[in-house]
Amino acid sequence: MLKPITSLIAREQFPLLASNHELHYLDSAATTPQPDVVLAAQAEFVRTSYGPVHRSVYDVGVAATNAYEGARHTVAQFLGARDDEIIFTKNATEALNLAAWIEAGRLEAGDEILISGAEHHSNLLPWQRVACRRGIVMKWIEVKDGALDMADYQQKVTAKTKLVAITAASNVLGSITPLAQVVAIAHQVGARVIVDAAQSVARLPNSPALCEADYIAFSGHKMYGPTGIGVLRAKQNILAHAEPLHVGGGMVAKTPRQAAMWLDGPARFEGGTPPVVEAIGLAAAISFVQEVGLATIHMHEQSLNAYAFKKMSELPGIRFVGTTDMNSRVGIMAWQTIVDDQPIHSHDVATIANTCGAAIRAGHHCAEPLLTALGLTDVARASWGVYTTSQDVDGLIQALAGVYSTFALPIKKGATVPSL
Ligand SMILES: Cc1ncc(COP(=O)(O)O)c(C=O)c1O
Repeated sequence: MLKPITSLIAREQFPLLASNHELHYLDSAATTPQPDVVLAAQAEFVRTSYGPVHRSVYDVGVAATNAYEGARHTVAQFLGARDDEIIFTKNATEALNLAAWIEAGRLEAGDEILISGAEHHSNLLPWQRVACRRGIVMKWIEVKDGALDMADYQQKVTAKTKLVAITAASNVLGSITPLAQVVAIAHQVGARVIVDAAQSVARLPNSPALCEADYIAFSGHKMYGPTGIGVLRAKQNILAHAEPLHVGGGMVAKTPRQAAMWLDGPARFEGGTPPVVEAIGLAAAISFVQEVGLATIHMHEQSLNAYAFKKMSELPGIRFVGTTDMNSRVGIMAWQTIVDDQPIHSHDVATIANTCGAAIRAGHHCAEPLLTALGLTDVARASWGVYTTSQDVDGLIQALAGVYSTFALPIKKGATVPSL
């Protein structure tokens, strides 16, 4: 008999969950509902200090600027970085595109980018484009047994490697990248490292290795913050010489008719009116996860992983994707649902799950190269958050039982399929 697992933070503190009592929300890897404290921080700012930032001398404009820069400081402290290394973007995707734009100005034909086979398209397509346009060679670090193949990585890093693009935690496999080794190996050959922290930032304590990476990208909406805000942390020595991607209002020192001169610091990369309310929300979300404790969140997710693995293994045909080692996973689980040796399409699984109140994700999860390498086209995925309980996982098990009964297979215990 498995012990029940309670939530770290009561679902009543999340208005979305409080107003959807029956919902088993199991798609936190896609986006996380916002808690009251995060919503309240944004509402308070809008009520009391809303104004255009970096443009006004009147009081609320100054208050808005201070709040926005205060949010930047919170992000910097969270990452162990300097304030002037934090650029606010729309999301992780925009942050990664900005990094690729900056790197495109440095990389030369024949240089090599090493990229892992587990990347989300957001940390792949920007590099594909740079490679295509600049004659740069892309090399792949393979995935083995559900994790990064470190031997393959070690072998492929050469003096030609100028950049290593790596996810801190895979949005399909749930695997945790050994960042300390990855960063150290890359830096030995003088390569820069870009870490896609979209799936780790609200699930794992920030390691010194993360801070040592040259770039870090993540989104607010996957860490209990609002949509419309993301972060690119880039080291000062990079930003000092980098060209902005978005040019326009608020990022120039001087604008003669022919060629403008850029401001120094993050403002150079934040052309136009920035997402101020969202930045305030992100800072509140950071305080929220820090208060809950990232180590506590990680342990909670591991308990839920163990619970789900056990329960799902009792179903008659779950083929797990990724490692079964709970210690090297965040709270993300993907699987195929097998009936008569055939996988049921994950969209069918998710559709039936929805009728049972379980919100799970289906498809290729914007990680097509990974799925192709695994010989798959689609998988179902469940992912946890601070509000998730073992009751939610039980909801998933009920839903999967519904899938099997829809496909007319009696549930018998213990008939598992080897994991991929
Ligand atoms: C690993 C990873 N990287 C990047 C992204 C892109 O995030 P966003 O859509 O917020 O830009 C996602 C989104 O699912 C992701 O899982």
